[in-house]
Amino acid sequence: MPLTDVPPTSLLHQRWPGLDLDRVPLGTSPSPVRRLEGLVDGVELWVKDESRYGDGAWAGNKVRKLEWIIPEAKRRGTGTLFTVGGIGTHWGLACALYGREHGLRTVLGLVDQPVDDHVRAQLARLEASGAQLHRYASVRQLRRAAPWLIVRNVRRGRLPWYLPAGGSNAVGSLGYVETALEIADQVRSGELPEPATVVTAIGSGGTAAGLALGFKLAGLRTRVFGAVVNDSFPLDAPVIARLATRTATLLAERGARDLPQVTPDDLETADDWLGSTYGDPTPASTAMVEKAAGLGLELEPVYTGKALAAIEDVRFPGPVLWLNTHGPR
Ligand SMILES: Cc1ncc(COP(=O)(O)O)c(C=O)c1O
Repeated sequence: MPLTDVPPTSLLHQRWPGLDLDRVPLGTSPSPVRRLEGLVDGVELWVKDESRYGDGAWAGNKVRKLEWIIPEAKRRGTGTLFTVGGIGTHWGLACALYGREHGLRTVLGLVDQPVDDHVRAQLARLEASGAQLHRYASVRQLRRAAPWLIVRNVRRGRLPWYLPAGGSNAVGSLGYVETALEIADQVRSGELPEPATVVTAIGSGGTAAGLALGFKLAGLRTRVFGAVVNDSFPLDAPVIARLATRTATLLAERGARDLPQVTPDDLETADDWLGSTYGDPTPASTAMVEKAAGLGLELEPVYTGKALAAIEDVRFPGPVLWLNTHGPR
């Protein structure tokens, strides 16, 4: 088949048909958008529902990143993904499940975190996922063990590919550049008005970085607001803008042209809804989860509840589009 007859596998490939990156679709695009009434007063609130995005045993925002990470791992010739997280990591589980479906092994370095019912259930899923698990009492201990884990998992002369927590490297962030282009298409076709603000939780930054780059690429004036829910490393606007720049650099290296520059002024982050630490439900996030349950939305208080608490507190310019990123099955 001549190249021009091959259907593009992404909106990014539609824009640059020669783009030298692969995407394996793991969910059904576009994820739906709809008006959300009765949750937050005094704002025109919309939701983009990422909670069903995924064709495997897991959905939500990790899947968008894996669509680009899985083929890139194959291109690099490695059969093993090595990544890290807490013992309740959603990211690690999605990596293990989708990686396994696509012939990749996953090695997980897990750090202890306070155990509640959710974390206990998540750990049981991780144990059943086929991933190789290594548990440590602290991040320091995991850091010390990481080189040994990498060397021990060399296969056929290939090192495992190290993916940072949350899959937030330049490759993973492409998933949310694609999502931003999807939102732009939905605006163009009249499914929703151009959002003035898109609100998401920030756990490792790839979602916000990809969105900020994607909106600029698409020529939307939409600004990203990220409610930071992780206090393990800095996730302010300059950090997110740097990740967006690394993502743009990767696109340029692989054949994309005329990429915009994302600067810290293009987005805003705040940790006012974090609570005492990462993973800690706050009264405000718990209240939003309960309110959402009354509307038939199943959320959790660590990411989505905190993003909604931000929308409740801040008078963002509307229309506001909230990303529902919570995706267990
Ligand atoms: C449900 C949910 N929402 C949002 C996020 C934030 O995404 P990111 O890690 O790309 O900042 C995460 C992951 O950290 C998540 O699990």
